[in-house]
Amino acid sequence: MPQIFHRSMNVVSRVSILGAVFLLAGIAWAWGRWVRSDYMTGVGNVRVQPIEFSHRHHVSGLGIDCRYCHTAVEEGPFAGLPPTRTCMNCHSQIFAYSPMLARVRDSYRTGEPIRWQRVHNLADFAYFDHSIHVAKGIGCSTCHGRVDHMPLTWQTATLHMEWCLECHRQPERFVRPRDEIYNMAWRSPPDQIEQGLELLKRYHVPRGGKLTDCSTCHR
Ligand code: HEC
Ligand code: HEC
Ligand code: HEC
Ligand code: HEC
Ligand code: HEC
Repeated sequence: MPQIFHRSMNVVSRVSILGAVFLLAGIAWAWGRWVRSDYMTGVGNVRVQPIEFSHRHHVSGLGIDCRYCHTAVEEGPFAGLPPTRTCMNCHSQIFAYSPMLARVRDSYRTGEPIRWQRVHNLADFAYFDHSIHVAKGIGCSTCHGRVDHMPLTWQTATLHMEWCLECHRQPERFVRPRDEIYNMAWRSPPDQIEQGLELLKRYHVPRGGKLTDCSTCHR
């Protein structure tokens, strides 16, 4: 049998197979980093909005309750965004001629809703519902951060499956008394786990399994 390849080719092919393995591992690693990067998850990205609405002004400054604008948050899956009418409750008088509010007035006059850019956007194949979380003692700031400090709104959690599961496995780490749901400054007490377990019992949160079943979120 004539030798088709020179012996040294064995070394070359071994090196290149090893190289390919490393390259693939590198690509997989980079892909993992990419899908978890703030750019891909949207964490920290401020959306440019048609109107510079500021939660900092309206929530911290004026003390308006979340439910005044996000009226559906306790009743259903979606918190909802306020209709223009809600803004005009105040802005037909306050800053009634401000150019910053021209688009609000246009929308009110024409009936054309304001087109807010979505900040959060969960994949369609994952089911989420606000009302159950609010009813079971999970506060807005646990998932949305200090919205009351945001001049324009951004996302603070990845919304990845791992993030949901981190809480669904051990909700006692995050649960708070129901009357603190809208308190943006709430902090967990030193004995959070103890109090948390007590609250889970009181709110009848099922323990073990059900909350991490695939069908809870993929229906
Ligand atoms: C005066 C009305 C008003 C009040 C009060 C208000 N919001 Fe909002 N909120 C808005 C408007 C308008 C938007 C859409 C523009 C934006 O994203 O900033 C919004 C957007 C949001 C978003 C992002 C929605 C998305 O697109 O994913 C979150 C989260 C949010 N609000 C949470 C809160 C929380 C928590 C509170 C209470 C601490 C609150 N808001 C109080 C009017 C309000
Ligand atoms: C357990 C986590 C969690 C809690 C607690 C929570 N949210 Fe959300 N919120 C989300 C997720 C996830 C989305 C994105 C939903 C989607 O894209 O379908 C969202 C979206 C929103 C939106 C955008 C509009 C909508 O309905 O999708 C608003 C406004 C909002 N949340 C306000 C609030 C307010 C106000 C509270 C407190 C009463 C609150 N959220 C509590 C996770 C949470
Ligand atoms: C309860 C009354 C009230 C409601 C409801 C309300 N605002 Fe305001 N808004 C105010 C007041 C008061 C100010 C002035 C705040 C300041 O300068 O500290 C203001 C200021 C503003 C400004 C100017 C901010 C600046 O930096 O000068 C914008 C833009 C604005 N609001 C948009 C909206 C939009 C959009 C809505 C509806 C989603 C809305 N507001 C709902 C009372 C309200
Ligand atoms: C900080 C804690 C926390 C986070 C984060 C969280 N959840 Fe939950 N979730 C809960 C608790 C507590 C319940 C209430 C369970 C009960 O009593 O049935 C719940 C219930 C649910 C239910 C209803 C289950 C049922 O029995 O119908 C769904 C669906 C759900 N969560 C989806 C999600 C998704 C999707 C995410 C991520 C985008 C998420 N949750 C993030 C704590 C959390
Ligand atoms: C608490 C809610 C929750 C539970 C329970 C859950 N998932 Fe998910 N899952 C999600 C969310 C939210 C996403 C979307 C992630 C994203 O957009 O990055 C997701 C994404 C996925 C994806 C797409 C790939 C990915 O990772 O983004 C697969 C596959 C999946 N889930 C399978 C499962 C299986 C299998 C189970 C049961 C062992 C399960 N999930 C349980 C919330 C959940």
